[in-house]
Amino acid sequence: MTRLVFFASAKMKREIEDLLKVAKEYEIETSSDLENFRIKFLVKKGLINQLLQVFKNLNGDEKKRWGKEFNETKISIEQLYIDAEVKLRKKEISEVIHDDLPGYFNEMGSRHPISAALEEMTAIFERLGFSVAEGPEIEDDWHNFSALNFPDNHPARDMQDTFFVEDEIALRTHTSSVQVRLMETGQKPIRSIMPGRVYRNEAISARSNCFFHQIEGLYIDKGVSFSDLKQTLYNFVQEFFGPNTKVRFRASYFPFTEPSAEMDIFLGTETESDYRLTKGTGWLEILGCGMVDSNVLENCNINSKEYSGFAFGLGVDRIAMLKYGVKDLRTFFNGDKRFLDQFISL
Ligand code: DAH
Repeated sequence: MTRLVFFASAKMKREIEDLLKVAKEYEIETSSDLENFRIKFLVKKGLINQLLQVFKNLNGDEKKRWGKEFNETKISIEQLYIDAEVKLRKKEISEVIHDDLPGYFNEMGSRHPISAALEEMTAIFERLGFSVAEGPEIEDDWHNFSALNFPDNHPARDMQDTFFVEDEIALRTHTSSVQVRLMETGQKPIRSIMPGRVYRNEAISARSNCFFHQIEGLYIDKGVSFSDLKQTLYNFVQEFFGPNTKVRFRASYFPFTEPSAEMDIFLGTETESDYRLTKGTGWLEILGCGMVDSNVLENCNINSKEYSGFAFGLGVDRIAMLKYGVKDLRTFFNGDKRFLDQFISL
């Protein structure tokens, strides 16, 4: 009896050692290796359970002696399986991700130079106390023309200048339409700028396009005078073009202002482009302005005996051309990345 137990016990020791050795040396490179490992060791008829049968034949004392070792062997082999599985999954993931390849770079976009110019101008007017308002690009005849005192037969109403959407509805030809919408709200005083895109049926060339951008300005209050207008525009020019920029006002005509003027800035004729831009005069027109016509105030239910105001309309695209040295207006809008990439720092 003692001899038998001895033999059983010696067998158990050897079998445990062998099993652990075989398991440790088992090479697992692929998922099917892993599966074979599982079948060999871990399933019901696998080697661990076969060893369990040997264990079961031991007597009580021997069971006590080898129980712990058997359990630890079993746990070690299960752990070998888990470690191998984790390693395999990591390998599979790294094969998909290729973490040694360089990453993809997402290119940074840049602000469009027209947007940058619009924002810079807007910021200056905001500092001067103007709020910002917007209006629709598809506009009716009243807001684009009639309320602004355009006579019925005014050439601007002509099909040749205006893109009509349907009868009496058109793409706005100027941002002055937003003035009317603001005044119609009945809120007073008004001190706003209205930036936006406008449309005109014009032949496309280096200097004109069928759409462009304006900033409209409107100041309505009691006792607003032409000198307020001059000072506001003068401040704007000093900020935007530099502190020594010279300006001049020339008498002009617009249906919606009386008196009306155009404002020029002085560029000089020293460089060839300034010479060409100013047609040899040194002066470049940048905006139209004037005192809001009393008819316009009355059309918008503002008492022209009590209130007065000034308005101006500034062409953004031409100023952006000047500021960024762009010679052809069309390059702003043809979407060529090489052109736009030059403004990445704006
Ligand atoms: N709306 C005019 C245009 O598009 C520009 C303009 C001139 C706007 C005088 C004004 C203004 O507000 O007072 O040519």
